[in-house]
Amino acid sequence: MRKILLLSILLAGTSFANEEGGELHEESCVRCHDSGMYTRDNSKIQNHFDLRSQVSACANNLGTGWFPDEEGSVVDYLNNQYYKFKE
Ligand code: HEC
Repeated sequence: MRKILLLSILLAGTSFANEEGGELHEESCVRCHDSGMYTRDNSKIQNHFDLRSQVSACANNLGTGWFPDEEGSVVDYLNNQYYKFKE
């Protein structure tokens, strides 16, 4: 019982982060590239580290002023949605 409770809290947390990431992404990131960028054949993103670096670079370029956890939720969103890297 306890395990189930814990699991559902964890899952709820994940989907919340995913939602936040999705919204932030929608707000700031689709003006230059749509999701096709993430699935292009010659993607430069090979692993989770690359993904974090690229999200950081694009976010900084843009001057989003995101907090690290907001940036992290966008990384999670993109990873869940497109890249599927292990962290
Ligand atoms: C000012 C335009 C611009 C905005 C806004 C922008 N990007 Fe980018 N992004 C680029 C360009 C250009 C590239 C391709 C860079 C390259 O090929 O080296 C890119 C590439 C990427 C990639 C790598 C795609 C791949 O698989 O090769 C990711 C991930 C990414 N952007 C995430 C984001 C996120 C997250 C945001 C929102 C903070 C964002 N971008 C906003 C211009 C932008």
